[in-house]
Amino acid sequence: MKLLVIGGGGREHALAWKLKQSPRVHKVFVAPGNAGTALEDGLENLPITTIPDLVEFAKNEPIEFTVVGPEAQLAAGIVDAFRCIGLKIFGPTKQATQLEASKDYSKVLMRRYGIPTAAYATFSDPTEAHKYLDKKGVPIVIKADGLAAGKGVEVAMNLSSAHDAVDAMLISNSMGKAGARILIEEFLEGEEVSFIVMADGHHVLPLATSQDHKRLGDGDQGPNTGGMGAYSPALIVTPELRTRIISEVIKPVIRGMAQDGQHYTGFLYAGLMISQGGSINVLEYNCRMGDPETQPIMMRLKSDLSILVEHAMEGTLEEVEAEWDYRTALGVVMAAHGYPETPRRGDIIYGLSELISMEQLDKDFHVFHAGTMMGGKDNKEIVTTGGRVLCVTALGDNVKIAQHRAYEIADKIQFDGCQMRCDIGHLATSS
Ligand SMILES: Nc1ncnc2c1ncn2[C@@H]1O[C@H](COP(=O)(O)OP(=O)(O)O)[C@@H](O)[C@H]1O
Ligand SMILES: [Mg+2]
Repeated sequence: MKLLVIGGGGREHALAWKLKQSPRVHKVFVAPGNAGTALEDGLENLPITTIPDLVEFAKNEPIEFTVVGPEAQLAAGIVDAFRCIGLKIFGPTKQATQLEASKDYSKVLMRRYGIPTAAYATFSDPTEAHKYLDKKGVPIVIKADGLAAGKGVEVAMNLSSAHDAVDAMLISNSMGKAGARILIEEFLEGEEVSFIVMADGHHVLPLATSQDHKRLGDGDQGPNTGGMGAYSPALIVTPELRTRIISEVIKPVIRGMAQDGQHYTGFLYAGLMISQGGSINVLEYNCRMGDPETQPIMMRLKSDLSILVEHAMEGTLEEVEAEWDYRTALGVVMAAHGYPETPRRGDIIYGLSELISMEQLDKDFHVFHAGTMMGGKDNKEIVTTGGRVLCVTALGDNVKIAQHRAYEIADKIQFDGCQMRCDIGHLATSS
């Protein structure tokens, strides 16, 4: 069968790479893909990004089913458009994607169904927002309601930056429509964990646990990013905590959405804060896999992903289980100069072709691409296209070994201005 993956980041490279491993799958198209998906055996890039063109392609090819990576296409209604003419696609509908696309919608739902989350209030009037800030004090968190590509949250440690964030969003429209409404939220302390499941409208299949590293710099310092590295499993998620996460934050949201007539199918990502005392709070739900969490999770998945997706689309997820490599997978992101504010494009990446040959023999690491394309001389070079460029992911018997291996591979890759954290996995290696 032929499959289609929508997107062009590291997450989509990992999903397509994993889907292609199934003996049932002959080809995976990736739209639009990147240099990594262009070079991978059995994967083919498709320079199409508009929904009507993607529908047309999937119908004519024909594609057996489509998996959607990024939230923007989900929020634009790609799932509705495919289903409308009977094409199979894995992801939530436009309406169900509100769970991620409107933080207010998601908070109202959490409150209604008793899901633990920080106290908050929603504002579109700046005067009211400022008054509320003065009443609550700091630390406090200001969030744009809509999709802001990871740039819509200010964790304010002093009142002046809190007031500035309100003015930026509500008066200067720094986030455009996404910030025309804001949430002001109680600050939560603890350790962040990502918990990702596949959902079929009624049942869920939890994926392996993982932990992301959001800040740009070592020791979790510096600006927030899309994520600078991740590993799986996350040791902080003990079997007991996992059971509680499923019953306190995963099942209630799937049940709540179903009760509201919005049966949720697709990947569902819960961003959680786990306090020192062990209480769980939802920071947000995302309607997709995390990036870079997908890369280590897919490295560890031993089951056939295409079969899991089929069960999810058919509403029979309760019939399957996912099998995981016992080892740890750890992914280190190599990001462009100037990321996250002003990522530079066009730097040539060296060292990748030797690694592609090594990957044929050594299945315990993989270099997943994100912001890359073929370019340079004769279109034979791989150049950066900005933001997060690569995620070097390796397996090892424990976090330290996986970490050592991932950095060993990353050291073989060079491009000008590369930014990389040196401590991915530190929360698990220091404890
Ligand atoms: N209530 C909170 N308390 C403390 N930190 C928070 C809180 N909400 C968000 N954060 C921090 O801000 C980051 C981004 O917030 P999140 O709700 O995940 O929005 P998004 O991913 O859409 O930017 C989180 O990963 C977390 O580090
Ligand atoms: Mg988040």
